[in-house]
Amino acid sequence: MTNHRIALIPGDGVGTEVIPPARRILDAVGRRHGIAFACTSFDWSCERYAREGAMMPADGLDRLRGFDAILLGAVGSPEVPDHVSLWGLLIPIRRGFRQYVNLRPIRVFEGLGSPLRTAAPDAVDLVVVRENVEGEYSEIGGRLNRGFPDEIAVQESVFTRAGVTRVLDHAFALAARRGGRLTSATKSNGVVHTMPFWDELVAERGALHPEVTWEREHIDALAAGFVLDPARFDVVVASNLFGDVLSDLAAAIAGSIGIAPSASLNPEREFPSLFEPVHGSAPDIAGRGVANPLGAIWSAALMLDHLGHPDAARDVTDAIAALLAKTDVRTPDLGGSATTAEVTDRLLDLL
Ligand code: NAD
Ligand code: IPM
Ligand code: MN
Repeated sequence: MTNHRIALIPGDGVGTEVIPPARRILDAVGRRHGIAFACTSFDWSCERYAREGAMMPADGLDRLRGFDAILLGAVGSPEVPDHVSLWGLLIPIRRGFRQYVNLRPIRVFEGLGSPLRTAAPDAVDLVVVRENVEGEYSEIGGRLNRGFPDEIAVQESVFTRAGVTRVLDHAFALAARRGGRLTSATKSNGVVHTMPFWDELVAERGALHPEVTWEREHIDALAAGFVLDPARFDVVVASNLFGDVLSDLAAAIAGSIGIAPSASLNPEREFPSLFEPVHGSAPDIAGRGVANPLGAIWSAALMLDHLGHPDAARDVTDAIAALLAKTDVRTPDLGGSATTAEVTDRLLDLL
Protein backbone atom coordinates (compact mmCIF):
# COMPACT_ATOMS: atom_id res chain seq x y z
CA MET A 1 0.00 0.00 0.00
CA THR A 2 1.38 3.41 -0.98
CA ASN A 3 0.34 6.32 1.20
CA HIS A 4 0.06 9.91 0.10
CA ARG A 5 -0.68 12.98 2.17
CA ILE A 6 -2.92 15.34 0.24
CA ALA A 7 -3.91 18.87 1.22
CA LEU A 8 -7.42 19.71 0.06
CA ILE A 9 -8.34 23.37 -0.41
CA PRO A 10 -11.92 23.44 -1.74
CA GLY A 11 -11.95 27.27 -1.63
CA ASP A 12 -15.04 29.12 -2.81
CA GLY A 13 -18.21 28.65 -4.84
CA VAL A 14 -18.26 25.54 -7.01
CA GLY A 15 -14.77 24.75 -5.73
CA THR A 16 -16.46 23.34 -2.63
CA GLU A 17 -18.79 21.29 -4.86
CA VAL A 18 -16.20 19.68 -7.12
CA ILE A 19 -13.54 18.68 -4.58
CA PRO A 20 -15.71 16.09 -2.74
CA PRO A 21 -16.42 14.26 -6.05
CA ALA A 22 -12.71 14.29 -6.89
CA ARG A 23 -11.99 12.82 -3.48
CA ARG A 24 -14.56 10.03 -3.96
CA ILE A 25 -12.95 9.13 -7.28
CA LEU A 26 -9.47 9.16 -5.73
CA ASP A 27 -10.56 6.85 -2.92
CA ALA A 28 -12.22 4.45 -5.38
CA VAL A 29 -9.31 4.27 -7.78
CA GLY A 30 -6.88 4.13 -4.85
CA ARG A 31 -8.64 0.99 -3.49
CA ARG A 32 -8.11 -0.74 -6.83
CA HIS A 33 -4.45 0.24 -7.09
CA GLY A 34 -3.34 -0.08 -3.47
CA ILE A 35 -2.97 3.65 -2.88
CA ALA A 36 -4.20 5.32 0.31
CA PHE A 37 -4.81 9.04 0.51
CA ALA A 38 -4.60 10.79 3.87
CA CYS A 39 -6.44 14.00 3.08
CA THR A 40 -6.42 17.11 5.25
CA SER A 41 -8.93 19.82 4.39
CA PHE A 42 -8.17 23.51 4.79
CA ASP A 43 -11.02 26.02 4.90
CA TRP A 44 -8.92 28.76 3.30
CA SER A 45 -11.35 30.85 1.29
CA CYS A 46 -13.15 34.16 0.95
CA GLU A 47 -15.39 33.05 3.82
CA ARG A 48 -12.32 32.75 6.00
CA TYR A 49 -11.26 36.19 4.79
CA ALA A 50 -14.60 37.63 5.92
CA ARG A 51 -14.25 35.91 9.30
CA GLU A 52 -10.56 36.35 10.06
CA GLY A 53 -9.28 39.00 7.66
CA ALA A 54 -6.95 36.69 5.75
CA MET A 55 -7.43 34.07 3.05
CA MET A 56 -5.00 31.74 4.82
CA PRO A 57 -3.00 31.86 8.04
CA ALA A 58 0.34 33.69 8.02
CA ASP A 59 2.17 30.35 8.13
CA GLY A 60 -0.09 28.84 5.44
CA LEU A 61 2.68 27.78 3.10
CA ASP A 62 4.59 26.16 5.95
CA ARG A 63 1.51 24.10 6.77
CA LEU A 64 1.29 22.90 3.18
CA ARG A 65 4.97 22.24 2.70
CA GLY A 66 4.98 18.68 4.03
CA PHE A 67 2.17 17.39 1.83
CA ASP A 68 2.78 15.27 -1.27
CA ALA A 69 0.37 17.36 -3.33
CA ILE A 70 -2.36 19.95 -3.06
CA LEU A 71 -5.80 19.61 -4.67
CA LEU A 72 -7.62 22.91 -4.93
CA GLY A 73 -11.15 23.76 -6.09
CA ALA A 74 -11.34 27.46 -6.93
CA VAL A 75 -10.74 30.78 -5.26
CA GLY A 76 -12.89 33.90 -5.57
CA SER A 77 -16.16 35.39 -4.45
CA PRO A 78 -18.20 38.42 -5.47
CA GLU A 79 -17.89 39.59 -1.82
CA VAL A 80 -14.10 39.95 -1.91
CA PRO A 81 -12.08 41.80 -4.57
CA ASP A 82 -10.27 39.28 -6.77
CA HIS A 83 -6.87 40.89 -6.24
CA VAL A 84 -7.30 40.26 -2.51
CA SER A 85 -8.43 36.64 -2.77
CA LEU A 86 -5.98 35.60 -5.46
CA TRP A 87 -2.84 37.35 -4.16
CA GLY A 88 -3.87 36.08 -0.70
CA LEU A 89 -3.98 32.38 -1.54
CA LEU A 90 -3.59 30.97 -5.04
CA ILE A 91 -0.71 33.08 -6.34
CA PRO A 92 1.46 32.74 -3.19
CA ILE A 93 1.13 28.94 -3.41
CA ARG A 94 2.17 28.87 -7.07
CA ARG A 95 5.10 31.24 -6.46
CA GLY A 96 6.22 30.13 -3.02
CA PHE A 97 6.39 26.51 -4.15
CA ARG A 98 8.10 27.39 -7.45
CA GLN A 99 5.36 25.76 -9.48
CA TYR A 100 6.67 27.36 -12.62
CA VAL A 101 5.14 24.86 -15.04
CA ASN A 102 1.39 24.92 -15.46
CA LEU A 103 0.17 21.98 -17.56
CA ARG A 104 -3.29 22.31 -19.06
CA PRO A 105 -4.15 19.35 -21.28
CA ILE A 106 -7.36 19.14 -23.24
CA ARG A 107 -9.04 16.53 -25.44
CA VAL A 108 -12.22 16.51 -27.42
CA PHE A 109 -13.85 13.34 -26.11
CA GLU A 110 -16.01 11.12 -28.26
CA GLY A 111 -19.64 11.91 -27.48
CA LEU A 112 -18.83 15.53 -26.73
CA GLY A 113 -19.00 17.36 -30.00
CA SER A 114 -17.04 20.56 -29.95
CA PRO A 115 -19.47 23.48 -29.91
CA LEU A 116 -17.64 24.55 -33.05
CA ARG A 117 -18.42 21.20 -34.66
CA THR A 118 -15.18 21.36 -36.63
CA ALA A 119 -13.13 19.02 -34.53
CA ALA A 120 -13.51 15.30 -35.04
CA PRO A 121 -13.60 13.34 -31.78
CA ASP A 122 -10.11 12.30 -30.72
CA ALA A 123 -8.51 14.69 -33.20
CA VAL A 124 -7.89 17.30 -30.52
CA ASP A 125 -5.39 16.27 -27.87
CA LEU A 126 -3.16 19.14 -26.87
CA VAL A 127 -1.42 20.56 -23.80
CA VAL A 128 -0.97 24.20 -23.01
CA VAL A 129 2.26 24.62 -21.03
CA ARG A 130 1.87 27.92 -19.26
CA GLU A 131 4.66 29.82 -17.53
CA ASN A 132 3.18 30.09 -14.06
CA VAL A 133 5.19 32.42 -11.83
CA GLU A 134 6.42 35.46 -13.76
CA GLY A 135 5.70 37.29 -17.02
CA GLU A 136 2.68 39.57 -17.13
CA TYR A 137 1.58 38.54 -13.61
CA SER A 138 4.10 40.69 -11.81
CA GLU A 139 3.95 42.56 -8.55
CA ILE A 140 5.85 45.51 -9.98
CA GLY A 141 3.62 48.48 -10.64
CA GLY A 142 0.68 50.18 -9.09
CA ARG A 143 -2.27 52.49 -9.45
CA LEU A 144 -2.14 56.21 -8.76
CA ASN A 145 -4.64 59.07 -8.61
CA ARG A 146 -7.66 56.82 -8.17
CA GLY A 147 -10.78 58.47 -9.51
CA PHE A 148 -8.96 61.55 -10.81
CA PRO A 149 -8.53 62.51 -14.47
CA ASP A 150 -4.83 61.70 -14.21
CA GLU A 151 -5.43 58.20 -12.91
CA ILE A 152 -2.78 55.75 -14.07
CA ALA A 153 -2.20 52.00 -13.74
CA VAL A 154 1.20 50.51 -14.54
CA GLN A 155 2.41 46.92 -14.40
CA GLU A 156 5.82 45.77 -15.55
CA SER A 157 6.06 42.37 -17.23
CA VAL A 158 9.00 40.41 -15.90
CA PHE A 159 10.65 37.78 -18.07
CA THR A 160 13.91 36.30 -16.80
CA ARG A 161 16.32 34.13 -18.78
CA ALA A 162 16.23 31.48 -16.05
CA GLY A 163 12.44 31.59 -15.68
CA VAL A 164 11.69 31.35 -19.39
CA THR A 165 14.38 28.75 -20.07
CA ARG A 166 13.15 26.31 -17.43
CA VAL A 167 9.56 26.31 -18.64
CA LEU A 168 10.66 26.04 -22.28
CA ASP A 169 12.86 23.05 -21.46
CA HIS A 170 9.90 21.39 -19.74
CA ALA A 171 7.70 22.06 -22.78
CA PHE A 172 10.29 20.77 -25.29
CA ALA A 173 10.81 17.61 -23.23
CA LEU A 174 7.04 17.07 -23.08
CA ALA A 175 6.76 17.60 -26.83
CA ALA A 176 9.53 15.05 -27.39
CA ARG A 177 7.53 12.48 -25.35
CA ARG A 178 4.28 13.31 -27.17
CA GLY A 179 3.83 14.09 -30.86
CA GLY A 180 7.16 15.90 -31.36
CA ARG A 181 5.53 19.23 -32.21
CA LEU A 182 5.67 22.48 -30.27
CA THR A 183 4.06 25.84 -30.91
CA SER A 184 5.26 28.89 -29.02
CA ALA A 185 2.75 31.67 -28.45
CA THR A 186 4.33 35.03 -29.13
CA LYS A 187 3.64 38.63 -29.98
CA SER A 188 6.97 39.69 -31.36
CA ASN A 189 5.80 41.83 -34.24
CA GLY A 190 7.41 44.95 -32.91
CA VAL A 191 5.14 46.23 -30.15
CA VAL A 192 5.73 44.02 -27.13
CA HIS A 193 9.35 44.24 -25.96
CA THR A 194 9.44 41.09 -23.90
CA MET A 195 8.41 38.73 -26.68
CA PRO A 196 11.48 38.98 -28.94
CA PHE A 197 13.43 37.86 -25.85
CA TRP A 198 11.01 34.94 -25.37
CA ASP A 199 11.44 34.04 -29.07
CA GLU A 200 15.24 34.08 -28.87
CA LEU A 201 15.13 31.71 -25.93
CA VAL A 202 12.70 29.43 -27.80
CA ALA A 203 15.15 29.26 -30.69
CA GLU A 204 18.03 28.62 -28.28
CA ARG A 205 16.30 25.79 -26.43
CA GLY A 206 14.76 24.43 -29.65
CA ALA A 207 18.24 23.94 -31.09
CA LEU A 208 18.93 21.56 -28.18
CA HIS A 209 15.85 19.49 -29.05
CA PRO A 210 16.29 18.48 -32.71
CA GLU A 211 13.64 15.76 -32.24
CA VAL A 212 10.98 18.45 -31.79
CA THR A 213 9.60 20.46 -34.70
CA TRP A 214 8.76 23.87 -33.36
CA GLU A 215 7.29 27.07 -34.66
CA ARG A 216 6.18 30.35 -33.21
CA GLU A 217 2.82 31.84 -33.83
CA HIS A 218 1.46 35.23 -32.87
CA ILE A 219 -1.04 34.91 -30.06
CA ASP A 220 -3.85 36.56 -32.03
CA ALA A 221 -3.45 34.23 -35.01
CA LEU A 222 -2.91 31.32 -32.65
CA ALA A 223 -6.23 32.01 -30.93
CA ALA A 224 -7.92 31.92 -34.32
CA GLY A 225 -6.02 28.71 -35.11
CA PHE A 226 -7.38 27.07 -31.94
CA VAL A 227 -10.90 27.72 -33.22
CA LEU A 228 -10.37 26.93 -36.89
CA ASP A 229 -8.09 23.90 -36.66
CA PRO A 230 -7.41 22.80 -33.06
CA ALA A 231 -6.22 19.37 -34.21
CA ARG A 232 -3.05 20.90 -35.60
CA PHE A 233 -1.67 21.59 -32.10
CA ASP A 234 0.22 19.27 -29.77
CA VAL A 235 2.24 21.15 -27.12
CA VAL A 236 1.65 24.89 -26.94
CA VAL A 237 4.02 26.85 -24.72
CA ALA A 238 2.96 30.30 -23.59
CA SER A 239 3.65 33.08 -21.13
CA ASN A 240 1.54 33.41 -17.99
CA LEU A 241 -1.23 35.61 -19.43
CA PHE A 242 -1.25 34.12 -22.93
CA GLY A 243 -1.42 30.63 -21.42
CA ASP A 244 -4.27 31.64 -19.14
CA VAL A 245 -6.40 32.80 -22.07
CA LEU A 246 -5.45 29.93 -24.37
CA SER A 247 -6.33 27.32 -21.75
CA ASP A 248 -9.92 28.56 -21.30
CA LEU A 249 -10.25 28.78 -25.08
CA ALA A 250 -8.97 25.22 -25.54
CA ALA A 251 -11.39 24.01 -22.88
CA ALA A 252 -14.32 25.73 -24.55
CA ILE A 253 -13.40 24.13 -27.88
CA ALA A 254 -13.55 20.77 -26.13
CA GLY A 255 -17.06 21.48 -24.85
CA SER A 256 -16.87 23.44 -21.60
CA ILE A 257 -14.37 24.95 -19.23
CA GLY A 258 -16.00 22.65 -16.65
CA ILE A 259 -13.93 19.69 -17.89
CA ALA A 260 -10.47 21.26 -18.11
CA PRO A 261 -7.73 20.26 -15.62
CA SER A 262 -4.56 21.96 -14.54
CA ALA A 263 -1.32 20.96 -12.83
CA SER A 264 0.93 23.64 -11.35
CA LEU A 265 4.16 21.72 -11.11
CA ASN A 266 7.34 22.17 -9.15
CA PRO A 267 9.33 19.82 -11.39
CA GLU A 268 12.27 19.61 -8.98
CA ARG A 269 9.89 18.34 -6.27
CA GLU A 270 11.35 20.68 -3.65
CA PHE A 271 7.75 21.59 -2.79
CA PRO A 272 4.28 20.08 -3.30
CA SER A 273 2.65 20.66 -6.67
CA LEU A 274 -0.89 22.00 -7.02
CA PHE A 275 -3.73 20.43 -8.96
CA GLU A 276 -6.89 22.38 -9.71
CA PRO A 277 -9.52 22.67 -12.40
CA VAL A 278 -8.96 25.49 -14.89
CA HIS A 279 -12.32 27.05 -14.04
CA GLY A 280 -13.09 29.49 -11.25
CA SER A 281 -15.65 29.58 -8.46
CA ALA A 282 -18.55 30.15 -10.90
CA PRO A 283 -20.72 32.27 -8.59
CA ASP A 284 -23.48 32.22 -11.23
CA ILE A 285 -24.15 28.50 -10.68
CA ALA A 286 -22.69 27.94 -7.19
CA GLY A 287 -24.93 26.30 -4.61
CA ARG A 288 -27.21 24.53 -7.08
CA GLY A 289 -25.35 21.20 -7.18
CA VAL A 290 -24.89 21.32 -10.96
CA ALA A 291 -21.20 22.20 -11.26
CA ASN A 292 -19.33 19.93 -13.63
CA PRO A 293 -16.94 17.84 -11.48
CA LEU A 294 -14.93 16.51 -14.45
CA GLY A 295 -12.33 19.30 -14.41
CA ALA A 296 -11.55 18.61 -10.74
CA ILE A 297 -11.60 14.83 -11.30
CA TRP A 298 -9.28 15.04 -14.31
CA SER A 299 -7.02 17.28 -12.16
CA ALA A 300 -6.98 14.50 -9.56
CA ALA A 301 -5.87 12.15 -12.37
CA LEU A 302 -2.99 14.52 -13.19
CA MET A 303 -2.11 14.38 -9.49
CA LEU A 304 -2.08 10.55 -9.56
CA ASP A 305 0.25 10.66 -12.53
CA HIS A 306 2.55 13.11 -10.77
CA LEU A 307 2.60 10.91 -7.66
CA GLY A 308 3.79 7.96 -9.72
CA HIS A 309 0.54 6.15 -10.49
CA PRO A 310 0.05 6.42 -14.27
CA ASP A 311 -2.21 3.33 -14.38
CA ALA A 312 -4.57 4.73 -11.78
CA ALA A 313 -4.56 8.05 -13.62
CA ARG A 314 -5.44 6.32 -16.87
CA ASP A 315 -8.32 4.48 -15.19
CA VAL A 316 -9.78 7.85 -14.24
CA THR A 317 -9.42 9.44 -17.69
CA ASP A 318 -10.72 6.23 -19.33
CA ALA A 319 -13.78 6.39 -17.07
CA ILE A 320 -14.34 10.03 -18.07
CA ALA A 321 -14.03 9.06 -21.75
CA ALA A 322 -16.46 6.15 -21.25
CA LEU A 323 -18.96 8.34 -19.42
CA LEU A 324 -19.01 10.82 -22.29
CA ALA A 325 -18.95 8.25 -25.10
CA LYS A 326 -21.44 5.75 -23.70
CA THR A 327 -23.87 7.68 -21.54
CA ASP A 328 -25.74 10.94 -21.73
CA VAL A 329 -25.07 11.72 -18.07
CA ARG A 330 -23.75 15.29 -18.23
CA THR A 331 -24.08 18.51 -16.27
CA PRO A 332 -25.91 21.46 -17.90
CA ASP A 333 -22.71 23.14 -19.17
CA LEU A 334 -22.39 20.11 -21.49
CA GLY A 335 -26.03 20.24 -22.51
CA GLY A 336 -27.27 17.65 -20.02
CA SER A 337 -29.47 17.80 -16.95
CA ALA A 338 -27.49 15.69 -14.47
CA THR A 339 -26.29 16.97 -11.12
CA THR A 340 -22.71 16.97 -9.87
CA ALA A 341 -23.55 13.94 -7.69
CA GLU A 342 -25.19 12.00 -10.54
CA VAL A 343 -22.15 12.47 -12.77
CA THR A 344 -19.86 11.37 -9.92
CA ASP A 345 -22.00 8.28 -9.13
CA ARG A 346 -22.02 7.20 -12.77
CA LEU A 347 -18.30 7.71 -13.04
CA LEU A 348 -17.79 5.54 -9.94
CA ASP A 349 -19.84 2.77 -11.62
CA LEU A 350 -17.64 3.01 -14.71
CA LEU A 351 -14.47 2.84 -12.63
P1 NAD B 1 -15.44 30.96 -13.87
O1 NAD B 1 -14.56 29.90 -14.42
O2 NAD B 1 -15.75 30.87 -12.44
O3 NAD B 1 -16.83 30.97 -14.68
C1 NAD B 1 -16.90 31.22 -16.09
C2 NAD B 1 -18.13 30.49 -16.67
O4 NAD B 1 -17.90 29.07 -16.66
C3 NAD B 1 -19.40 30.72 -15.86
O5 NAD B 1 -20.48 30.78 -16.75
C4 NAD B 1 -19.51 29.45 -15.01
O6 NAD B 1 -20.83 29.11 -14.66
C5 NAD B 1 -18.90 28.40 -15.92
N1 NAD B 1 -18.27 27.34 -15.13
C6 NAD B 1 -17.13 27.44 -14.42
N2 NAD B 1 -16.87 26.28 -13.79
C7 NAD B 1 -17.86 25.43 -14.10
C8 NAD B 1 -18.16 24.09 -13.74
N3 NAD B 1 -17.37 23.34 -12.94
N4 NAD B 1 -19.29 23.52 -14.25
C9 NAD B 1 -20.09 24.23 -15.05
N5 NAD B 1 -19.88 25.50 -15.43
C10 NAD B 1 -18.77 26.10 -14.95
O7 NAD B 1 -14.74 32.35 -14.24
P2 NAD B 1 -15.09 33.85 -13.78
O8 NAD B 1 -16.56 34.04 -13.79
O9 NAD B 1 -14.22 34.69 -14.61
O10 NAD B 1 -14.57 33.97 -12.28
C11 NAD B 1 -15.36 33.77 -11.13
C12 NAD B 1 -14.47 33.84 -9.90
O11 NAD B 1 -13.55 32.76 -9.90
C13 NAD B 1 -13.63 35.11 -9.81
O12 NAD B 1 -13.55 35.47 -8.46
C14 NAD B 1 -12.29 34.68 -10.33
O13 NAD B 1 -11.23 35.45 -9.88
C15 NAD B 1 -12.22 33.27 -9.79
N6 NAD B 1 -11.33 32.37 -10.54
C16 NAD B 1 -10.58 31.52 -9.80
C17 NAD B 1 -9.80 30.56 -10.42
C18 NAD B 1 -8.99 29.63 -9.60
O14 NAD B 1 -9.14 29.56 -8.40
N7 NAD B 1 -8.10 28.86 -10.18
C19 NAD B 1 -9.82 30.44 -11.82
C20 NAD B 1 -10.61 31.34 -12.55
C21 NAD B 1 -11.37 32.29 -11.90
C1 IPM C 1 -6.48 30.32 -13.63
C2 IPM C 1 -7.10 31.57 -13.10
C3 IPM C 1 -6.09 32.40 -12.34
C4 IPM C 1 -4.95 32.76 -13.26
C5 IPM C 1 -6.65 33.68 -11.72
C6 IPM C 1 -7.84 33.37 -10.89
C7 IPM C 1 -5.59 34.43 -10.98
O1 IPM C 1 -7.71 32.30 -14.12
O2 IPM C 1 -5.97 29.51 -12.84
O3 IPM C 1 -6.51 30.13 -14.84
O4 IPM C 1 -5.06 33.69 -14.09
O5 IPM C 1 -3.93 32.12 -13.16
MN1 MN D 1 -7.70 31.28 -16.03
